[in-house]
Amino acid sequence: MFLPIRALTLIKMEALALQCCTQVKLIYKNQEDVEVYLATHPTFGSVAIKILPCQSTYLLQIAQKEGRIAESIQHPSICRVYEQAFVESCQRCTYYIIMEQADSDLKSEIQKRSRENAPWSEECWINMLEQVVSALEQAQREGVCHRDIKPANILLWQNGRVKVTDFGSANEG
Ligand SMILES: Nc1ncnc2c1ncn2[C@@H]1O[C@H](COP(=O)(O)OP(=O)(O)OP(=O)(O)O)[C@@H](O)[C@H]1O
Ligand SMILES: [Mg+2]
Repeated sequence: MFLPIRALTLIKMEALALQCCTQVKLIYKNQEDVEVYLATHPTFGSVAIKILPCQSTYLLQIAQKEGRIAESIQHPSICRVYEQAFVESCQRCTYYIIMEQADSDLKSEIQKRSRENAPWSEECWINMLEQVVSALEQAQREGVCHRDIKPANILLWQNGRVKVTDFGSANEG
């Protein structure tokens, strides 16, 4: 039984991002049907939209926790959340997290550079890892432990900016 839907203040139908966006492209889907799309949003420009299925109250609470933590930590090396919303449709209940769009993630980039035999220099690695450490320091100051730091959860920008994402396993307080 799924009860708290109507009570949620987070419901914002305008956040039905996939309907108001253009150039929507699915880039990730896992076994639990978590999806990540890249898109152009009318307000935020280039975005990534993470869609978490919420067919139970438990899953909704997990998704809300992820969105709340990700949005609460403001730091240049933590992926910025623009908007989040619970959306109920006749097909399924989902939770959307709309965030800034990265150019790649560390896992994909390591694989690509390995294929191309173009490893980063030690200096580049130190620079990237310093940004991750700085993000984790800020999270710690705010009582959050990420608990899932790995290359797939570290986003990259072509200008060298590195940001931590995916607070789905994080602990608060
Ligand atoms: N803001 C973003 N910009 C570009 N790509 C992203 C962004 N967020 C996520 N991605 C891509 O989608 C992948 C999966 O995202 P994420 O790690 O948030 O999901 P997940 O690991 O499946 O989440 P969960 O642990 O909740 O199942 C990332 O490894 C990255 O390749
Ligand atoms: Mg992840």
